[in-house]
Amino acid sequence: MTNRIMPSLLSADFANLQTSIETIPGADALHVDVMDYHFVPNLTIGLPVMEAIRRITDKVLDLHLMISDPDRWAPTYAEQGADSVTFHVEAAAAPVRLARELRSRGARAGMALKPATPIEPYADLLPELDLVLIMTVEPGFGGQQFLDLCLPKIERARALLDRTGGDVWLQVDGGVSAETIERCAAAGADSFVAGSAVFGADDPDAMVAELRKLADA
Ligand code: DX5
Ligand code: ZN
Repeated sequence: MTNRIMPSLLSADFANLQTSIETIPGADALHVDVMDYHFVPNLTIGLPVMEAIRRITDKVLDLHLMISDPDRWAPTYAEQGADSVTFHVEAAAAPVRLARELRSRGARAGMALKPATPIEPYADLLPELDLVLIMTVEPGFGGQQFLDLCLPKIERARALLDRTGGDVWLQVDGGVSAETIERCAAAGADSFVAGSAVFGADDPDAMVAELRKLADA
């Protein structure tokens, strides 16, 4: 299994995003958190900033849309160069149609679940997806404490994905650090978002390497 370390730019320096991105050459992707003050009680960045990031890096851009009405807004992120676009299933009116629209625009289609949202009702959707994101904090803010209660869901998602087959990334996001990443990997995750752990480190790229070592162990 290939593990991917995907630093979240939410904890980067918003006044110097390019500089922040240059501190993590070892990252497999850049995780970009879009929030709208509606789906979550925070407001971050949107399409113009994603487009600006797209212009300065060839890294995989992994968009996490914590927004209401993703059916309306998500496809544009794919059109404008996001490599993967993840919507919250709690907010999507027609997740199958949306996933197909994302794929038809050349992006990986991702579905995110908040901590209290079970995976089982969506088992039949998995063939439509390229990424499943299990939130390990309530979405909205970086720097929160990892919720161990989400680990069994990661295990159940892993089992469902193994049964479905295909190349679906199983991503965890929230409180992922050198202290918690091994638990996530043991539960079956292969894609690890880390914000404060990476950008709060003295050497962010060394932390990316450390997280990779722990996940691969
Ligand atoms: C939170 C975001 C995360 C956030 C994670 O809602 O989706 O991507 O940046 O931050 P840490 O790694 O600090 O928990
Ligand atoms: Zn995120």
